[in-house]
Amino acid sequence: MAQLTLQSRSGSHTLPVETNKSIVELAKKHKVVWGYACQRGVCAQCRTLVIEGAEALNEVTKEEKLRLRKAERAEGYRLGCQVQIVKDGDVTLAHRPY
Ligand code: FES
Repeated sequence: MAQLTLQSRSGSHTLPVETNKSIVELAKKHKVVWGYACQRGVCAQCRTLVIEGAEALNEVTKEEKLRLRKAERAEGYRLGCQVQIVKDGDVTLAHRPY
């Protein structure tokens, strides 16, 4: 079964994959520390680095295109309040606020 691994200040957490929910929502549900404030793609406190499983994630949203530089997106940065798992597959993400 596919797994979601979240690496945050509170350590590494392995969770079952749940589709169509933002990573901020999943972190809250499972009590994983994952900074966020606006949940609208503005504050970037939820900035997230995709380490594994980019192909299982939704397309980059227009909010992410506005908030993250092109070079950051090319390195694999997303916003935790925008990124969702849309297909089954192992995914590893790290919380990387500025
Ligand atoms: S919570 Fe503000 S950009 Fe994600």
